[in-house]
Amino acid sequence: MATDAGDPIPRFPDGFLWGVSTSAHQIEGAADARERSVWDVFTAEPGRVKDGSTAAVACDHYHRYPEDVALLAGLGVGAYRFSVSWPRVNSPGGLDFYDRLTDELCAAGVRPVPTLFHWDLPVSLEEAGGWLTRDTAARFADHVSVVAERLGDRVTKWITLNEPAEHTLLGHALGAHAPGRRLLFDALPVAHHQLLAHGLAVRALRAAGADDIGIANSHGPTWPASGEPADLEAAGFYDVLLNRLFAEPVILGEYPDGMGELMPGDDIPADLEVIAEPVDWYGINYYAPTRVGAPDGTDSEYGGLALPAELPFSVREIEGRATTDFGWPVVPEALTELLTGFRDRYGDKLPPIVITENGCSYEGLDDQDRIAYLDGHLRALHTALEAGVDVRGYFVWSLMDNFEWAEGYARRFGLVHVDYTTLERTPKASYHWFRDMLRNQG
Ligand code: FCB
Repeated sequence: MATDAGDPIPRFPDGFLWGVSTSAHQIEGAADARERSVWDVFTAEPGRVKDGSTAAVACDHYHRYPEDVALLAGLGVGAYRFSVSWPRVNSPGGLDFYDRLTDELCAAGVRPVPTLFHWDLPVSLEEAGGWLTRDTAARFADHVSVVAERLGDRVTKWITLNEPAEHTLLGHALGAHAPGRRLLFDALPVAHHQLLAHGLAVRALRAAGADDIGIANSHGPTWPASGEPADLEAAGFYDVLLNRLFAEPVILGEYPDGMGELMPGDDIPADLEVIAEPVDWYGINYYAPTRVGAPDGTDSEYGGLALPAELPFSVREIEGRATTDFGWPVVPEALTELLTGFRDRYGDKLPPIVITENGCSYEGLDDQDRIAYLDGHLRALHTALEAGVDVRGYFVWSLMDNFEWAEGYARRFGLVHVDYTTLERTPKASYHWFRDMLRNQG
């Protein structure tokens, strides 16, 4: 990886928002103090999570949040992205927790940035059809109103959904995540209903007086495996599924060619008007590019994910690159490519961007690999700013090691190490590096 590691990271504009991210199911624990979510059901099924673990305790953030807020304050971040657990909000006293957390953050001078859905759908809603049912979008808007009414006097920046693409693909098409459905292309209604939920949530937040709203969509450049027509076609299709299907309804108010016809409902144009309700900024979670070719007739594996042979594409290795412990290639300059690509594709329609997640999984307290990853990606981000892309903020995934979904506790993404036996938190070398970088930024 070509980096200028060692030189200071270039200066970002004044007012640039620096933060770190987490999500409720991955850190909170205290599963007995809330309704069950699809992830509780999923993790209870043998074989679903690689190390057989559950998030019943996780980092016990529910009880240890003052210590975690102190770590945020020590890091010197301006903002903290967390998620509000819908099953907890549905449970007696559940919202009180987010009230306390919000107060603690405000007292520490860290801006709270809640995400209103990060994959932990209440089981009661899943039993009623989950995201395959249009009604779930309306229920989500109700949930958003309840949270906004309670926290809106102190929370000024909101995120509707986290990665509807991954939740559709991993949770409903491939069955690798909760709720574990394996519907392949019959999962498309899940995409539409989440996008509709996003638009309804923007409206509900506006009605509650909010004026700083975004979504956190996962995106990455798609690189064709070769210049052969079959590879180009497969890569183009993958780009539609991961990038355009989730960006274009929100940014342009339209589905990519041919996709609208596949969506459920009587009036897709009317739904698209809701989905395109203007956002104040557009959040991007970026980890790595994907190299894609024509189907090769075999099952394949990508970063721990099993891809069946019947998909109309296959994921190929990006050669010559270091990989993280997760097997994801480290390609910082693809972040510049992604951002300039979005600007070129969507022009004036593209809202200001916030990087709502970026990070890597590595073992160890002296995590020089993570420092190199973050260093390279911050330089790549700065290059995109210099090229004229309007980026307003950057959040590291994650504040601390946590429950990494189907991988269990085996993947460590934190700036802070968590000992899952004692629950002791220990800042890693990357925590100190990020703190010093923020100090240099002033
Ligand atoms: C993203 C998820 C986040 C975390 C990181 C590693 O796809 O939004 O919860 O699992 O990947």
